[in-house]
Amino acid sequence: MSEHIEGESEVGSETAIGCDTDVQEPEGRRNFLSGAVALAVGALATLAPIGVAITTVLDPLRRSTKSNGMVLVTRLSAVPEDGSPRKFTVSADRTDAWATYTDTPVGAVYLRRVGDDVLALNVVCPHAGCFVGVADDGARFACPCHRSSFDLDGVVNDPASPSPRDMDELEVEVRNEDEVWVRFQNFLPGRDEKTPV
Ligand code: FES
Repeated sequence: MSEHIEGESEVGSETAIGCDTDVQEPEGRRNFLSGAVALAVGALATLAPIGVAITTVLDPLRRSTKSNGMVLVTRLSAVPEDGSPRKFTVSADRTDAWATYTDTPVGAVYLRRVGDDVLALNVVCPHAGCFVGVADDGARFACPCHRSSFDLDGVVNDPASPSPRDMDELEVEVRNEDEVWVRFQNFLPGRDEKTPV
């Protein structure tokens, strides 16, 4: 009985204090709210990277674009089925003296289907480093700088061409049936042999 009466007295006291909270919240409640906000912010900070990671894993072309020196360039379905060449930008991570830049254009390749395989040729001319184009008739590659000429396999097809070697072929892998991966590499121009830069 005595305990019950004391309890009633305490409730009355709390009610009186509660009226003051119209002006100033109790410290315990403020601490609780601050803790809840901090918890929510922490949860968001944790969940955001997880969401990005899930998206990256689920989309093959957003998956890590580098693997064992190979770079994911495009989907096989983007390479013309008729064997004509198509140019693709190659993006990869690049590091200079100050920073690392992710997914930055580092070069370009011509891709073309040869039977069930894919041929990859660096677009840079082995003569002096200009960008090789596709001739108007689509039947060969032609360099606009000094008129080197190559067939669609990248082989020099004109004895007057100043290029000292064929266009630089790059290793290709088709993974997961639709992903075209290329071991992208630049080579020194003006040399008979392929010398990696
Ligand atoms: S740079 Fe291509 S022919 Fe000279």
